[in-house]
Amino acid sequence: MCGIVGYNGLLDAKEILLKGLEKLEYRGYDSAGIALRNEAGVTIFKEKGRIADLRKAVDEDADATIGIGHTRWATHGVPNRRNAHPHQSASSRFTLVHNGVIENYHLLQKAYLKGIQMQSDTDTEVLVQLIELFVKEEGLSTVEAFRKTLSLVHGSYALALLDSEDTETIFVAKNKSPLLIGVGQDFNVVTSDAMAMLQVTNQFIELHDKEIVIVHRNHVEISKLDGRIVERAPYTAELDMGDIEKGPYPHYMLKEMDEQPGVVRKIIQAYEVNGELAIDEAILQALNAADRLYIIAAGTSANAGLIGKQYFEKIARIPVEVHISSEFGYNMPLLSEKPLFIFISQSGETADSRQVLVKVKEMGYPALTITNVAGSTLSRESDYTLLLHAGPEIAVASTKAYVAQLAVLAVAAYATAKARGVALDFDLKQELAIAATAIDAIVDAKETMEQIAEDYLKVARNAFFIGRGLDFYVSLEGALKLKEISYIQAEGFAGGELKHGTIALIEEGTPVFALVTQQEVALNIRGNVKEVVARGANACLIASAGLEEEGDCLIIPHVHPLLTPLVSVVPLQFISYYAALHRRCDVDKPRNLAKSVTVE
Ligand code: G6P
Repeated sequence: MCGIVGYNGLLDAKEILLKGLEKLEYRGYDSAGIALRNEAGVTIFKEKGRIADLRKAVDEDADATIGIGHTRWATHGVPNRRNAHPHQSASSRFTLVHNGVIENYHLLQKAYLKGIQMQSDTDTEVLVQLIELFVKEEGLSTVEAFRKTLSLVHGSYALALLDSEDTETIFVAKNKSPLLIGVGQDFNVVTSDAMAMLQVTNQFIELHDKEIVIVHRNHVEISKLDGRIVERAPYTAELDMGDIEKGPYPHYMLKEMDEQPGVVRKIIQAYEVNGELAIDEAILQALNAADRLYIIAAGTSANAGLIGKQYFEKIARIPVEVHISSEFGYNMPLLSEKPLFIFISQSGETADSRQVLVKVKEMGYPALTITNVAGSTLSRESDYTLLLHAGPEIAVASTKAYVAQLAVLAVAAYATAKARGVALDFDLKQELAIAATAIDAIVDAKETMEQIAEDYLKVARNAFFIGRGLDFYVSLEGALKLKEISYIQAEGFAGGELKHGTIALIEEGTPVFALVTQQEVALNIRGNVKEVVARGANACLIASAGLEEEGDCLIIPHVHPLLTPLVSVVPLQFISYYAALHRRCDVDKPRNLAKSVTVE
């Protein structure tokens, strides 16, 4: 989703901004632009499409030491050059980039800007026009006009503003959308994500909602919307450039799938205390005190949540509900007496999940966030955090974060069960280590998955993924992966449910991937496969060792029955990856999708 960078220093701003935007590409975008400020004024370059296109459009000789940049993921107005950021006020004095959604932009436009000819279809432009209006008509200073404008706004924003009459400052503000200030010697930067500015600094200052920052070259001043000054020290981003480079891999997704065994081992290490897997005492108490857990998440994280429910119910014996965040906040079920909310989010920034967290906190309930990003919004605003330790995930399609979510959910359920005195007949540490080795074996056999993708999906228009029990939930994730990156219409189903309607879609050659990892339903799912094969489906069975039969497409190593999702999802990820490659899709940056969805 939209990303922002800004630089105020002594070096060539253009190059730093373009490199920063390249590092934000993973978030998903459809146009990009930069504004450069030098003695001659502000110059804007913007293009529809990729940063590479923007690079070509930027005048190589344009030199400036102050600038702002933006990647746009269209919400208001189609993705084109006209709607790309930066946007300027009528006189071109003010130049603005924005991430978020101004919900009342139309009302503001009607109330204040009737006489102004808008130059774009965006909500953002209203802000920059308002700032100019308040400066011109009310004689306010830029920062006063900025404050006044923001006090009228309903919605989410991360903003960076240039004033062509001020050669020294970038004006910044944040509400609900992520934004950081990076600090350095003789420069300061603005960024949606630390990764984009690691090129110049690893010192960052977190911003809270409704804060304004005046960014000079040598200092930054943070204040609340009402003018109160805020002091906040920078933190060191524990990120390594190596973690965010592709290295020898053609795609981040391939790199991240290959990293999965290592991620599981890292989680074992991170959660091991005196030879046992454990979580913080305070989190254990919160889990134990709850009469029901409410897992709230979106996308892949919601799919992980469905398996988390099985872990908490089967291992720790606590009832769980799983809800997608975009629905929960506006359609809340009747809650139990002592709920604990668990937010699962790779990025920790998903706006749909955050709106639920805000409501839950208003209602006074405790919240735990399971996230990959320490210091992310959901983590900061929850009472407790469990980290995924998966390392930065850059490909839009989530892979290693999903496996990490399953592992951390298992650890949390297991530690809770122990604390509650539930008798356990397995050692999770050992079983996770076995699962890591099993994933290794699949990663090493990727050519088999490449062949499966070629055989089953090269010309497919649609595909089905089926399973029963835990396999059903993994089918949902398998289908999501395939549709996200290959654009093949794909659905995950409970094996027994297909015949109640969807089997009507099976025709000669329709690919159906079936998972067979759960012994108690192995025969049932094989029966469901027979039903679709009888109607012409091209079935690919992926079975755990011990449950295989002749003719199965792929045998995956046997692991503890509760941990099969960590392993069985991996071939589905690889199959999706190769299907997307065969179809020449942009694997890491699929169309229309964003990695970090910071608008509701
Ligand atoms: C976006 C991404 C998905 C992700 C979902 C939730 O839609 O494209 O891959 O699963 O957001 O993201 P989160 O960061 O909250 O896990």
